[in-house]
Amino acid sequence: MHTRRFTAPIVALAVATLTISLSAGNTPYRARQGMVVSQSDIASEVGWKVMREGGNAIDGAIATALALAVTHPTAGNIGGGGFIVYRGGDGTTTTFDFREMAPAGANPTMWMKDGKYDFDIHHNSHRSVGVPGTVAGLYLAHQKLGSKPWKDLVLPAVALARDGFEVSEGLAASLERMIPEFKKYPASLAQFSKNGVAYKAGEILKQPDLAKSLQRIADKGPAGFYEGETAELIEKEMKANGGLITRDDLKKYVAKERAPLKGTYRGYEVIGMAPPSSGGMGIIQMLNVLEGFDLKANGYGSAQNIHLVAEAMRRAFADRAQHLGDPDFNSGIPIAQLISKDYATQLRKTINPNKASVSTPTTFTWPTESQETTHLSVVDGKQNAVSLTYTLEYGYGSRIVVPGAGFLLNNEMGDFNSAPEMTDERGNIGTKPNLALPGKRMLSSMAPTILAKDGKLFMVTGSPGGRTIINTVLTTILNVVDYGMNAQEAVDAGRMHHQWLPDRLSMERYGFSADTIAKLKAMGHTVAEAGGQGVAEVIVVGKDGILEGGVDGRAPDGGAAGK
Ligand code: GLY
Repeated sequence: MHTRRFTAPIVALAVATLTISLSAGNTPYRARQGMVVSQSDIASEVGWKVMREGGNAIDGAIATALALAVTHPTAGNIGGGGFIVYRGGDGTTTTFDFREMAPAGANPTMWMKDGKYDFDIHHNSHRSVGVPGTVAGLYLAHQKLGSKPWKDLVLPAVALARDGFEVSEGLAASLERMIPEFKKYPASLAQFSKNGVAYKAGEILKQPDLAKSLQRIADKGPAGFYEGETAELIEKEMKANGGLITRDDLKKYVAKERAPLKGTYRGYEVIGMAPPSSGGMGIIQMLNVLEGFDLKANGYGSAQNIHLVAEAMRRAFADRAQHLGDPDFNSGIPIAQLISKDYATQLRKTINPNKASVSTPTTFTWPTESQETTHLSVVDGKQNAVSLTYTLEYGYGSRIVVPGAGFLLNNEMGDFNSAPEMTDERGNIGTKPNLALPGKRMLSSMAPTILAKDGKLFMVTGSPGGRTIINTVLTTILNVVDYGMNAQEAVDAGRMHHQWLPDRLSMERYGFSADTIAKLKAMGHTVAEAGGQGVAEVIVVGKDGILEGGVDGRAPDGGAAGK
């Protein structure tokens, strides 16, 4: 894998004196005063500029996220939701939950048609849209921890949307692939094509309606999105198309500050996201299990280690399915037990070091979950750190641009289970903790994570990738902590994934040797070849406090910015 391009002509912004080391191969980007790593080089530059001009990591992350809503429409958003994990340079920690909420009209059977569950209504309709959380979440983080005026963080995105930016090769190809989908929604086709003709790389994409929506957010904060013109435009689009979201739902949306989930791994402190994300639980439980094995001695890439890691994954995903959902609707989630060392010891005893376990399907397999999300990692000069993952669910979410408002709506309701006690051959499940109810947040796999050592920041990591997110993030941590890789090596190395059911070990093509795969098969694993897994964006604090950025080459765009 290669590091990404990092210079692109920016029409709207005069981003000057960017200083960063750029190299090919496995050498990480290096910086001392601060760094942003994201899936858009333009957005990373926006975030770094805010920090260079005195902003802190929260300011930089908010500006980057809002810029991504313009330059990375696949997953960057104001119409979706996500999570922030924060660690201050002083060691304080917190998280912000801005996962979408189900509208008041939601109910567990809302995707049934003529008595049958309808996949398309669940995933590809106005009823797949959850009440967006991004604007409220970014604003809450800013109120609690930001240092620059809110407006300063939004205006760069306004300028990018209004004046346009140069379409990259990756974005051009992605938009072209999406044209048949956009054709279903005139406002989407108008925004992301030239009257149905695809943008070419190098052309300028302007999004004037989005610029106006962002300007309202700049001027009025969340009220500029959840009330007034934007709220009216969302409600109008919903009413006209059988969607449920009303102005009242928008006004009632609330982002939440939550206590992080915390664990330790070989002396490192691990800070993760609590439910409604399953990310923190999954990462901490798997690390607890793996702590009891000498991965370093077994050697990187050994069949032995891949087997042990797969078995840890299998168990964490079984617990995820059984126990997790929105904590505000599920009082009995045994989260303390699931991330305890004692429980990990019990789980470890069930792992045969030479033989794959068998995943026992109880009554269900997994619902569909998209691979499209995006992650950014930010560290400032005081070693304040932000790990932010947010999403529209599918690439371009529901593909519905709100007419007149210029932003895409999520299809996050697809992350709720399909219907009560309903299981079918497509993998829909009906377990209770994650059924849709008014005001409920759907279970997520997003896993923004931060590691510290001896009271100091050590690593910021995260990735898109649906359920593979948890395992991609785990892999980046093992690669750095156990195998001593630098940030870029940790991002580049081959990835594997097991999610309990289906009982299958997916391994990235060209990431592992034929001999290794043969050994895993001999242990009883069903191995499936996979394409690129996730797009991790990682910062590691190296020797002498130098920041090392790892930018994932599995996606066509992305970049680190800093100095
Ligand atoms: N929609 C992807 C996730 O929340 O995990």
